[in-house]
Amino acid sequence: MEIFIDSADVAEIRDVAAMGVIDGVTTNPTLVARTGRSLREVIVEICEIVDGPISAEVISTDYEGIVREGRQLAALHRNVVVKVPLIAEGLKAVRTLASEGIRTNVTLCFSAPQALLAAKAGATYISPFIGRIDDAAGDGMALVEQIVGIYRNYGLRTKVLAASIRHPVHVVQAARLGAHAATVPHKVIHQLLSHPLTDVGLARFLEDARRSPGGGRG
Ligand code: E4P
Repeated sequence: MEIFIDSADVAEIRDVAAMGVIDGVTTNPTLVARTGRSLREVIVEICEIVDGPISAEVISTDYEGIVREGRQLAALHRNVVVKVPLIAEGLKAVRTLASEGIRTNVTLCFSAPQALLAAKAGATYISPFIGRIDDAAGDGMALVEQIVGIYRNYGLRTKVLAASIRHPVHVVQAARLGAHAATVPHKVIHQLLSHPLTDVGLARFLEDARRSPGGGRG
């Protein structure tokens, strides 16, 4: 499973990249706005940190605008994946960008038929927003299951990227369902690697080591 960090904060990205657990990065206009920096500047710096798919989102909503922005973003670095909203104009743009060899991440997916059409249009990734569906009393993981099943039935090559992840269980469930990727906030990546018994066990080992001759070293 590919694990991406869902962040535009380069300090967060450097932190998890140093652990070697990150395959790529997703950003969105909200995450970029929080940095106070321009999209271009942030994306170029992220591309220097992580050698993998880096999603950068367009803000146009018309076909020409999405294609123009998509080409500009893709020209920033070979690893840029253009993030396109799941609207009719977006799918037209995905088709054009795909024909030019530009990878896309179709975002704001909330239903299986939306995901089916995005795959038909040639999306590289589809991003179902799990947490936001759960927030609205839906079942985000059921959507992941439906999309994975539909893509499998027809050999569709679009990758399912579980997005809007809120906690570690979302990541485990997405992995068990066969999602190709999950994009995970920095805090949740740290939650994924933490376990209270690891901390208790380590504290005990260090305590015992201090009592050994030589302090447990060598
Ligand atoms: C996906 O690519 C989005 O950036 C993100 O996962 C949205 O998550 P949120 O619902 O926590 O804003």
